Amino acid sequence: MKFERKDLPVGTPVVGMIGGGQLARMTQETAIALGVQLRVLAEGPAVSAAQAVADAPVGDYRDPETVRRFAAEADVVTFDHEHVPTDLLHELEAAGIKVYPGPDALVHAQDKAVMRQRLDAFDAPAPAHQVVASRDEIADFAKRIGGFPIILKTTRGGYDGKGVWVAESSEDPVVDEAFAANVPILAEEKVDFVRELSAIVARSPHGQAVAYPIVESVQVNGICVEVTAPAPDLAPEQAAKAQQTALRIAKELGVVGILAVEMFEARDGRLLVNELAMRPHNTGHWSIDGAVTSQFENHLRAVLDLPLGSPAARAPYTVMVNVLGGDDESTADMHYALLHCLARDPGLKVHFYGKSVKPGRKVGHVTAYGDDLDDVRERARHAAAYLTGTIDE
Ligand SMILES: Nc1ncnc2c1ncn2[C@@H]1O[C@H](COP(=O)(O)OP(=O)(O)OP(=O)(O)O)[C@@H](O)[C@H]1O
Ligand SMILES: [Mg+2]
Repeated sequence: MKFERKDLPVGTPVVGMIGGGQLARMTQETAIALGVQLRVLAEGPAVSAAQAVADAPVGDYRDPETVRRFAAEADVVTFDHEHVPTDLLHELEAAGIKVYPGPDALVHAQDKAVMRQRLDAFDAPAPAHQVVASRDEIADFAKRIGGFPIILKTTRGGYDGKGVWVAESSEDPVVDEAFAANVPILAEEKVDFVRELSAIVARSPHGQAVAYPIVESVQVNGICVEVTAPAPDLAPEQAAKAQQTALRIAKELGVVGILAVEMFEARDGRLLVNELAMRPHNTGHWSIDGAVTSQFENHLRAVLDLPLGSPAARAPYTVMVNVLGGDDESTADMHYALLHCLARDPGLKVHFYGKSVKPGRKVGHVTAYGDDLDDVRERARHAAAYLTGTIDE
């Protein structure tokens, strides 16, 4: 630590966030404003959040002693990712440390089979699903739901579409790939969806909760590329239903902090839960510039049991486009590319994560907001495309 806790103003809460990625980095912006001291357990000395947080010890979140020591100097422990083993978190809780979200909630964001089983127990709407351990079980599952194709996914460890396969038959080579992952495999109905939606809510320990407007998210190759808030032309009843589903899940699972519920809007009108995240989520980044209270601020308020802020949008439309690293070396200098973007669009908001460019890596995002959806979308897309070197004017 560069300074002692006693050097901070009286009453300053210390929030310990495990993981030093861009989510911790963006949490720091709001921690500064609220006068909250953010500590980050960082993967290395120069990771995204470590560049922005003074108190960012480097350590391995899988090492119990490291986590214990880190947690001992925080008033509450929270997360930039969902990978901390729940055994360890139970141990922290037993030692009287506040962990938000707690391990009994977090396990539903770690393990898709546990999540499916728990959501079934209170009839949350889901695609047909079953844990499968052999080709025969895959064939039986497909028969039960009316045939192939089906989705196979790892119950643990998947991200950005890694660990998700479409199987055309029980003999499909992807079946071997899935089983080679050496974790239980979940088979799911391949949902015929019109689009993907995301419902983000924040919930505090004493049970206050707020729901953000439902957004539409576009994924390419399993990676989120664009988010529109609110989801255009979503019927108000559907939006309310999606919000209620997310609020219900947050309450049933006892989530504290941000809960993001990824959903499918099926062609037949069903709203089906895809998966859960219990931390600020990519589909909520629009809220930094587009909402009265960002998801990062509400996450901090929630874990500190402070009253939550308004999740209302500031403008009729907000579009967030991810800046994904391109293949071209010549586009690695993002700072240089800023010049054009800022000159072209004084209303544009740019967020860089302090990450060097690698193909497909999320290195930042841009946000535009306003009254006209087509205009807002064009501005955000143009900026992201320029920054990634896809266009050069
Ligand atoms: N049952 C399904 N039917 C149709 N498409 C699906 C299904 N499950 C997943 N997908 C597609 O695959 C994408 C990734 O799936 P999922 O969100 O489960 O995986 P992930 O790798 O954990 O994602 P994330 O990067 O959000 O953590 C989804 O956003 C969706 O586009
Ligand atoms: Mg997902």
